[in-house]
Amino acid sequence: MPKIIYHAFDGEIRTVEVSVGATVMDAAVRNAVPGIDGDCGGACACATCHVYVPDEWLARLEPQSEMEQSMLEFAENVRPSSRLGCQIKMEAKLDGLEVQTPESQH
Ligand code: FES
Repeated sequence: MPKIIYHAFDGEIRTVEVSVGATVMDAAVRNAVPGIDGDCGGACACATCHVYVPDEWLARLEPQSEMEQSMLEFAENVRPSSRLGCQIKMEAKLDGLEVQTPESQH
């Protein structure tokens, strides 16, 4: 199974194995990764799954949908590397994906 590496703002790292098709938010919620709440259940309506994705990984993700872009406009501390975890579906080629949770979500 592919792995996701979650970096908390304070340097804590958690590595989680994820089924293909699950999202970065799903995996975080199932494994109690702090900083990702997924309040809307993945409907792209809360931004509590906001994560930063390093450039090397950002380029390999599917582009943002319009819905994701508009939701991120309401998120705090948005950066060019911001994505919504519920919109990133795991694929085998994303094994080792790294994401960072914003300090404001802790
Ligand atoms: Fe609500 Fe991602 S879980 S926007």
